[in-house]
Amino acid sequence: MDILDQLGQLEQDAQRELKELSSLEALEKFRVRYLGKKGELTAILRGLKSLSTDQKRQVGGQANKFKADLEFRINEKREELLAGATGEVRLDHTLPGRPYHHGHQHLITLVMDQIVGIFQRMGFEIADGPDIETDYYNFEALNFPPDHPARDEQDTFYVENDRLLRTHTSGVQIREFEIRTPPVKIIAPGRVFRNEAVNSRSFCVFHQVEGFYVDTNVSFADLKGALEAFCYEFFGEGIKLRYRPSFFPFTEPSAEIDVHCILCGGKGCSLCKYEGWLEILGAGMIDPNVLDAVKYDNEKYSGYAFGMGVERMALLKYQVNDIRLLYENDIKFISQFR
Ligand code: PHE
Repeated sequence: MDILDQLGQLEQDAQRELKELSSLEALEKFRVRYLGKKGELTAILRGLKSLSTDQKRQVGGQANKFKADLEFRINEKREELLAGATGEVRLDHTLPGRPYHHGHQHLITLVMDQIVGIFQRMGFEIADGPDIETDYYNFEALNFPPDHPARDEQDTFYVENDRLLRTHTSGVQIREFEIRTPPVKIIAPGRVFRNEAVNSRSFCVFHQVEGFYVDTNVSFADLKGALEAFCYEFFGEGIKLRYRPSFFPFTEPSAEIDVHCILCGGKGCSLCKYEGWLEILGAGMIDPNVLDAVKYDNEKYSGYAFGMGVERMALLKYQVNDIRLLYENDIKFISQFR
């Protein structure tokens, strides 16, 4: 008899016999006869190695399915017989419960939501833009002329047709200005990319939350007020901030804002490059040229903008000393933050 027929016959026999079993002892004998070390099905599975590859696949597949099925039916039958013996299903209430694994958000998403939540309560709306952006929205409309050295600071990965992986979320400013009239008060969270050397503070992919507010009479004091209110809420009242004059083509004046390195208490560590401070955001008053390019009257309106690095905020707040940990996705690391 062909081995597949033999298997088929065995399945039929097993099914018929199983139905007729009426005691736990008989069930155990049945199990040993088929699935025990010297059982009939075990013998077939053992014999697989001497078959051709083709046969192995066919017979192996069917035999394993039969085995799983039989195991299931035997357990079912056992429950049935046990219930029959006492008249009820026997449950052991002293057994420990089965642990249930709950999924949760990644630290980056968690921090992103915290940041967005705080700004929403301060009256900002949310907007987003594409990860693959045009040169126009990422650079040109933001006052970066084609050969301007400021582009070197944000080298990126270019795709076809003048498209690139966006280096910052600032392009969302232009996209929103084009379709709205002031007052505009928006935050734009999202993923950005840079062709950068990877180290404990910088990665080739990261996240930013952009914020911008254009209205009549918006001043640098409003920017400072908003950022300070945010930082106190996010990090806690004791946080120390430092403003450094800086340059961005689309803001004037511009500043970079550092947070006192919470990780080393300002003493200096690899995360803060032994400076005691870590840059978390760039900001400034929106350059009148930018407003002009989107046809906002720059005599009447002024605005501020800022862009913060989400990973940096996460590292500081949760005292993690290496940005790469956020992207390795080691469950033991990730599940500490929920
Ligand atoms: N887009 C700038 C960056 O990625 C940050 C920034 C945003 C600066 C808004 C000023 C205003 O570095």
